[in-house]
Parts: sequence; C-alpha cells; structure tokens
Amino acid sequence: MKRNHLIYLKIIDLLKDGAFNRSSGYHTFVFSSLSLKEVQSRYVVLRNFIEKNHNLIFFTDKRSPKVKSIIKNNQTECLFYDKFKKIQLRIKTKSFILRDNTEIRKYWDKVPIESRKSYSTKLAPSSTIDTKNKCNEKEYLSDKNAFSNFCVVENYIREIDFLSLITDTHERMKIIIKNNQIKIKELIP
Ligand SMILES: Cc1cc2nc3c(=O)[nH]c(=O)nc-3n(C[C@H](O)[C@H](O)[C@H](O)COP(=O)(O)O)c2cc1C
Repeated sequence: MKRNHLIYLKIIDLLKDGAFNRSSGYHTFVFSSLSLKEVQSRYVVLRNFIEKNHNLIFFTDKRSPKVKSIIKNNQTECLFYDKFKKIQLRIKTKSFILRDNTEIRKYWDKVPIESRKSYSTKLAPSSTIDTKNKCNEKEYLSDKNAFSNFCVVENYIREIDFLSLITDTHERMKIIIKNNQIKIKELIP
C-alpha cells in the first residue's frame, strides 16, 4: 500500500490539523510511557507534526518524570480521540529528546513569554511542596535558565491503530510505518 491510501491521507490531515489548530480534537493527546514496569499516562499538547518522518512533537520540562522514563525506555504510545469526528488514533511511537540546540531554540522563540513560566519554576515539576521549600515554591528562574529546562520531545510513529465509529459498520485499520515504508491492513473493529 502507498502514501496515497485514503485512510493514510486522512490521518496525516488530522494530525496536521491537530498541531496547527487549537480547536481541533487532536490538539491534545494522552502520552503513555513505561517507568519501572509501571505505565504512566498524561495529556500533552501536540506542538508540531513533521509529516516527512512521521514525527509528533510535544514540549515539556527536562526535569519531569516523563523525560526520565523516555530515556530509560523509548517505546511509548500516543492516544488521540475526537468526539465529534468519532475517530480514535492509537499510535505506537519511539520517543527521543531533541538535542539539537538550534532546533530547540527555533521552538523556544515561538513560546509566548507567559507560557515560559512553566519551565521556570525553581523546584522541579512533580516536587512535593513541604514546609522546608514552601517559600521557594513561587520563585521563578531567569529566561536563560528556563530555556535550559525546556525540552522538545520527538515521537516517531511506528504503528497506527485507526478506529472510526462514524458508520454502523465501524472501520478499523492498522498502518505500519517501517524504514519510511507504509503497510496498511484492515482489521475487525
Ligand atoms: C490538556 C492538558 C495539556 C497538557 N499539556 C502538557 C504539555 O504539553 N506538556 C507537559 O509537560 N505537560 C502537559 N500537561 C500536564 C501533564 O498532563 C502532566 O500533568 C505533567 O506534565 C506531569 O507529568 P509527568 O509527571 O508524568 O512527567 C497537560 C495537561 C493537560 C490537562
């Protein structure tokens, strides 16, 4: 099967729209990773979708637990659902922390000043607030230090489980992406 398969093209459009349109149902997704045999899931925002290498991008704080879990095990899953379109995309991915500073800087330059606060907390995300550090809790780091906490996560698509509940006969497809080759199989919904 080729890149001109209708379902494949539809998924590409949904993901592009998810990245660039805030009101799209695919603008946020559930990102799951494994940490010491424990599954961890959380919502993140789709910041970019690079079609040519099937790469889903989100931003996070370098100090967050999800970054540690990706470094230990890069097999992850990205789960999307739009309740109006009634299409679920369950996507198996391989995740990497972007290391190219020029590329990271390009993304950072587009982060609004207000949003940069997310990366400038003095205490690492998920730290417990207790009596010892209570006074630092509202302290923020400089923009330069916030940039050093800013982390771009790349998630390369390996497999997509497409499920559409629109028609009476639900439609389900498996799309496998390997070495930039695409295989499509129809599944029982
Ligand atoms: C709608 C929504 C969007 C979110 N987007 C992001 C995001 O893009 N990046 C991020 O790091 N956390 C985001 N969060 C917060 C995460 O879900 C999570 O609570 C936080 O990052 C801590 O995750 P961790 O402890 O597993 O690393 C979002 C939460 C919600 C509810």
